[in-house]
Amino acid sequence: MAHGRITGWATHLPERRLTNHDLAEMVETTDEWIRERSGIGARHVDGKVTEMSTAAGRDALAMAGVDPADVDLLLLATCTSDQQFPASASVVQDNLGMSCGAIDMNAACSGFVYGLVTAMQFSAGGVDRILLIGSDALSGITDWTDRGTCVLFGDGAGAVVIERSADTPTLLGWDLMSDGSAAGILSCEHGGKIFMNGKEVFRRAVLAVEKAGRNALKRAGMNIDDIALVVPHQANIRIIDAALKRLDIPLEKAAMVLERTGNTSAASIPLALVDALNNDRVAPGDLVLMVGFGAGMSSAAAVIRWDPPRA
Ligand code: COA
Repeated sequence: MAHGRITGWATHLPERRLTNHDLAEMVETTDEWIRERSGIGARHVDGKVTEMSTAAGRDALAMAGVDPADVDLLLLATCTSDQQFPASASVVQDNLGMSCGAIDMNAACSGFVYGLVTAMQFSAGGVDRILLIGSDALSGITDWTDRGTCVLFGDGAGAVVIERSADTPTLLGWDLMSDGSAAGILSCEHGGKIFMNGKEVFRRAVLAVEKAGRNALKRAGMNIDDIALVVPHQANIRIIDAALKRLDIPLEKAAMVLERTGNTSAASIPLALVDALNNDRVAPGDLVLMVGFGAGMSSAAAVIRWDPPRA
């Protein structure tokens, strides 16, 4: 039986870049404060989910050598669809010339890992080629007068192609969770802007990452020491640091793009994953732990064994 594996990847960031110094001219803040409290130095803004997703998806398919017309399913993880409906996935599907099912999935910042776990189930069920994209444009729902939130968020997209061509399963373990009782601490109403209780999100995020990571490893039958690379949701360096300490994973094992992207929600894990892949940080057979958390409060983790594309 064939299993799903990642055979192509790409990312896209919108052109307009805002540094911390730019923000210091918009609200009362400083580069030092933002770096110290979050680890962020710059972010890209003014993106549109359909445009960023189309660009990342096109490049990921080209890398995999997959004709868009041969894609069997498009999963687009986003919480900032360009419009209420149709799904942004339908627009991207048409932009790329695909003829297949296409859906948006909203698990906020956990969306890409939710999508990866879902895609792997489709692969196991016999679906040959899947395009999975994580893409968000948080700049459009950010209150640019609120220094407590506007310094954290940015836009971007990351895409992977999943083909049913591995001899053994690559998804070894996973954990998906939602705690709707905490939905009020991080939210955005239709037509509104992001509301966040930063301290409470921080506290819960650290615990959620630890729990999701441990659960996924347990399901995989693996130990912490088996993990070669962690790809955490890029929200805040202090959250990542605290969570990895609880998991007993050195920070050096983490893929990081936060400093130059900010928190890009569903795009954050694929942006960090692709950066690690492109910098040869993952060897064949390595175990990679991806772990995200976000509004919901949602959390998600996946342990994959890296089975690289064949030449
Ligand atoms: N620049 C300068 N000062 C700022 C500021 C900014 N951008 N934002 C807030 N402050 C001020 C506050 O007004 C407060 O001032 P006060 O003491 O005079 O009242 C002070 O800094 C401390 O604020 P506080 O909220 O206690 O800071 P913090 O250490 O909790 O850091 C966050 C704030 C938002 C960085 C932090 O809570 C966080 O990262 N939370 C998680 C957010 C997150 O990751 N969300 C997405 C999840 S997917």
